Amino acid sequence: MPALTPPSRLLFGPGPSQVEARVYEAMSKPLVGYLDPFLYQVFDDVRDGLRAVFGTKNPYTLAIPGTGSAGMETAVTNFVDSGAKLAIFVNGFFCERIAEMGRRHGAQVVRAEKPWGEVFTQEEARAFLEKERPQVVAFVHGETSTGVMQAPEAITRPAHEAGALVIADCVTTLGSVPIRVDETGIDIAYSCTQKGLSAPPGLSPFTVSPRAVERLAARTTPNSVWYLDLKLLMDYYDGKKYHHTPPVSTFYALREALAAIMEEGVEQRFARHLKAHRSFVQRIEAMGLKMHVAEGKRLTTLNTPRVPEGVDDASVRKQLLDEYGIEIAGGFGPLAGKIFRIGVMGPLATDPNLELFFEAFGKCLTVHAAA
Ligand SMILES: Cc1ncc(COP(=O)(O)O)c(C=O)c1O
Repeated sequence: MPALTPPSRLLFGPGPSQVEARVYEAMSKPLVGYLDPFLYQVFDDVRDGLRAVFGTKNPYTLAIPGTGSAGMETAVTNFVDSGAKLAIFVNGFFCERIAEMGRRHGAQVVRAEKPWGEVFTQEEARAFLEKERPQVVAFVHGETSTGVMQAPEAITRPAHEAGALVIADCVTTLGSVPIRVDETGIDIAYSCTQKGLSAPPGLSPFTVSPRAVERLAARTTPNSVWYLDLKLLMDYYDGKKYHHTPPVSTFYALREALAAIMEEGVEQRFARHLKAHRSFVQRIEAMGLKMHVAEGKRLTTLNTPRVPEGVDDASVRKQLLDEYGIEIAGGFGPLAGKIFRIGVMGPLATDPNLELFFEAFGKCLTVHAAA
């Protein structure tokens, strides 16, 4: 085989996002065994770092092997018993995935629906949940398919009034956007490593509130998915009892990414991302483009400007990749051809990087608007 030579990209897409050199370096460090005390120190550092970015004191905070979808499946399989009622707030692609997992796990899935790009108000959530009285509620905090951010309290307050546990998909928010799990009352949150945390994909950060831990302990039916059974996973992480062989190098990477976040300061990192988002929107509007999502409802790490009339978004994306090595994504489903999806995360969330991006993006748009 020839030497492996991946192209050097600027990852302005929805994820994976740009990874810093120190994180790649951490991945090349020597492996240790799955019960090595050193690895348990790494686990502890990772779990502390995850608590800081999730905004929680939950002891039950860990990283599940697998990508964001593994976290989603862990949430569903552990907290939604077969026959239980699962209420889902559907306003994009990833809520549909939770609904599909719920169905496959035998839940009775009920849906509140909104067009792609809109959010739910607390009144709407309350009316729906009072009628349905589900055991579990799920919503997506940052919907990557639309660029919308759902305020957690709009869902958690009425859900708790109805006696339900709340699952939040934080795949596109953790590490770059405040989630404040304890303050907002989210019971179960999962994420990924390859977006707001600026690490490679492969682990799914996960946290569980004490109330949800109680619900889990009271569960009498065995979890049908052995690999994602939280009780067994915690026996490994807390009880040092073999369950699976963890992806050691990916844990090193996540630890290093979290170390970089701690050095910057969690709040400072959130503020940097918000500033970059505001600067992004200003620049987009100065070009005469419009954002798909209304101000105040935007996912600040994944921007979704509308594709201008007459422009073929795929040609713009192709030129950006071929000539500038810049990756962005297009819309899909009802938003196919209508929006660009542009991530401004991690090391790229700075003014000089936005400058660089807009210079290339502006040129490509001009070429394809004229074509
Ligand atoms: C909001 C959301 N949820 C879940 C997922 C699934 O994550 P993964 O692709 O890491 O399995 C994604 C992936 O982009 C996502 O954006």
